[in-house]
Amino acid sequence: MADGHTAVDAGALNPAPPLSAINFFDPEFLQDPYPAYKRLRDEAPVYRDPNSGIVFVSTYDLVMEVNRQPGVFSNRFSEALRAGSPERMDPEELAILSAGVPPVDTMLTADPPEHTRYRKLGMKAFTYKRVEQMGAYVAEVTNALIDRFAPRGSCELKAEFANLLPMTVIADALGVPREDMDRFFHWSEGFIIQLSGVATRDQRLDAARRIVDYQRYFVEKIEEKRAHPTDDVISDLVHADLAEEDDPRKMTHSELISIIQQLLVAGNETTAHALTAGIYYLLTHPEQMAAVREDSSLIPNFVEETLRFLSPTNNMWRLVKSDAEIGGFPVRAGEVLLLRYGSANRDAAHFEDPDRFDVRRENARSHLAFGVGIHTCIGAQLARKEMTIAFPILFDRLQNLRLKAGATLRYSPNVLLRGVLELPVAFDGR
Ligand code: HEM
Repeated sequence: MADGHTAVDAGALNPAPPLSAINFFDPEFLQDPYPAYKRLRDEAPVYRDPNSGIVFVSTYDLVMEVNRQPGVFSNRFSEALRAGSPERMDPEELAILSAGVPPVDTMLTADPPEHTRYRKLGMKAFTYKRVEQMGAYVAEVTNALIDRFAPRGSCELKAEFANLLPMTVIADALGVPREDMDRFFHWSEGFIIQLSGVATRDQRLDAARRIVDYQRYFVEKIEEKRAHPTDDVISDLVHADLAEEDDPRKMTHSELISIIQQLLVAGNETTAHALTAGIYYLLTHPEQMAAVREDSSLIPNFVEETLRFLSPTNNMWRLVKSDAEIGGFPVRAGEVLLLRYGSANRDAAHFEDPDRFDVRRENARSHLAFGVGIHTCIGAQLARKEMTIAFPILFDRLQNLRLKAGATLRYSPNVLLRGVLELPVAFDGR
C-alpha cells in the first residue's frame, strides 16, 4: 500500500478468544449463546470442551447423524451425568432421594428395547385423535386465563398465561386437580434444576426434596386410580399392559412416576417458553406482528418459526456407548455429548439467513426443536395445538400489545431449556 502499511484483517487485530476460554455453562453465557454457536459450527462442529470434558455437536447434519444411531449414542445419560462429577454424587442428595421411589429410566432416558415399550404406552396418552379434538377445550382454557388479567391492562405474560396454559392442559389430562398446580410448578422446578447443568449443591439438595414430595403425591394418585379408574392418562397408564417379552405386566410405581414426571416437566416449561417467545418475537418485529394479526393463515408457520428460533429444548445429552466417529471426529465410549438443537436450528447450511426471525420462512417446519429419530417429542402435536389456538386469541383480546416500559429480559440459567424468565406486557384488553 502507498503509505507502507499492510492491510490486516480487523479480526486479527482483535482476535476472538479461543473457544477454550468460553465457559459454556455460565448463566451469563447462556443469555446469548448464539455467537458462540456460530463459532462452533464454523470452527469445530464437533468440539471436546476442555473445561467440562463434554463433546458438543453443533450442526444440523451432525445432530441428525447422531440421532440416526441410537445404538451408539444412548439416551441413558442420567447415570453418566451423576457419575461424571463428585458434586453430583453428593451423599446427602442420595440420602434424600433414597427416601423416594427408586429411579428407573423410561422414555427420554431409556434405550431400545425398553424405550420402545414405554414410548408405545406414552404415545397412547396423546394420540393424534385425542389432541385433534382438543381445540375448543384449549380455546376455553386460554380465554379463562385471559379473563383474569385482561381488565387490568397489563400482566406478566409468562407467569400469568404461558406457564398456566400447558400446566392446566397436562393436569386435566393426567386427571389431577387444577388446585394443586402450584405444587406441580414447585416440583417441576426441582426437575428443571436437576437437569439445568448449572445448579449449586444447595439447589440440588432442594431439588431432591421437591422430587421426593412429587413422588409421594403421585404414588397416592396412582393408587387412587388403580382402585377407581377414571377417564384420564394416569388411569390409562396404571391399567395398561407393558408388553415385556410376551409377558405383559402392569407398570411399577417407579416406572409410572418416571413417565408422569416426563409428561409434567417435558411438556410444561418447553411449551411455556415457546408461547412467551412467540409473543416477544412479534413485539420486537412489529411488521410481522401486523402481518400475522391480519392473515391468520400465517399462524402455523409463525409457530414453527418460533420453535426454530427459540429451540426451547436448546440442548440434550447423549452417552457414547462404543468408540465412534461423528463427522470424522473420534469420540470414545463413556463420553457425554451435548446435542445442540438450538445451534442446529441456526445452521446457515440449512436455514438461509438463520438469525433472521421470519414468519414466512419456507422451511421453518424442518427445525429440530422437537428432536429427530426414536426420541422425537411425543408432545409435539399437543404443543403445536396449544400454540396455534392460543396465539390468535391473545392477539384478538390483547389489542395494542406492547412490552412494558423499562422491561429487561433475562433468559433462564439452564443449559437444556431456553426461554425468558418474565415477559411484562401492557395492552388494551377486552
Ligand atoms: C414446545 C414444546 C416442546 C418442545 C420444544 C419439546 C422438545 C422435545 C425434544 C427436543 C425431545 C427429544 C429429546 C431427545 O432428543 O432426546 C422431546 C422428547 C419428549 N417430549 Fe417434548 N417438547 C415439547 C413439548 C412436549 C409436551 C407437550 C410433552 C407431553 C405432553 C412432551 C413430552 C416429551 C417426552 C415424553 C419426550 C421423550 C420421548 C422419547 O424419549 O421417546 N414434550 N421433546
